[in-house]
Amino acid sequence: MLDPKPGESVLDLGCGTGHLTAQIAARGTDVFGVDASAAMIEQARRAYPNLTFEVADIRALPFVGRFDAVFSNAVLHWVKEAEQAVAAFARALQPDGRFVAEFGGRGNVGRILAALQAACRDMMGLAVESPWYYPSVAEYAGVLEAAGLEVTYATLFDRPTPLEGEAGLRHWIDMFGGHFLATVPAAQHHEFSRRVEEQLRPALYREGVWFADYRRLRVVAVKRHALVSDAS
Ligand code: BEZ
Repeated sequence: MLDPKPGESVLDLGCGTGHLTAQIAARGTDVFGVDASAAMIEQARRAYPNLTFEVADIRALPFVGRFDAVFSNAVLHWVKEAEQAVAAFARALQPDGRFVAEFGGRGNVGRILAALQAACRDMMGLAVESPWYYPSVAEYAGVLEAAGLEVTYATLFDRPTPLEGEAGLRHWIDMFGGHFLATVPAAQHHEFSRRVEEQLRPALYREGVWFADYRRLRVVAVKRHALVSDAS
């Protein structure tokens, strides 16, 4: 959907270790990868020394009118301050530039989130809020339009995602569930994951494979001159 063209300039928001950035660059595109994690950027620079990577906060990007396209995959659900992020990447786009992204949408990991919250409640007596931003199509379209971007495509769809191995869900919790694990003493982390697995097994474990109940929001929007002046 990004369809990068030779000579275009593309900003990869939340580029992580740079694998997708490199695929975009392989189209002859002038691509710039940014990520909030210095460790990720270091890995990206080591793996792809010919590409440009910088540490940056998506909510406070330093670019103005610089890119033909802004791309992002599996990152924007980590940024709860969506208005700030959208305003920052809208500013980074040239007029008629496009934004193409996919991330977790309304209901993403709904069952996993409920099981993590239930385990926090049952073990620690805590009501723990979600650390993630999962907007609906209408909600996110409103945020984009307020920043002068015209939505040309948006869809929300289920994408159950297999997690590798019998310990797949446990590994997912270790990798992404730090917000919840931090509320539980380290000695009880094993019991925490056991409870989450027990609650989710009937719904998310099928024929020996764990599935994460991902729902993706996929969106394309264009920075229009008229909308830009309307929004300012
Ligand atoms: C995802 O939908 O890609 C995701 C959601 C929560 C944590 C990590 C990844």
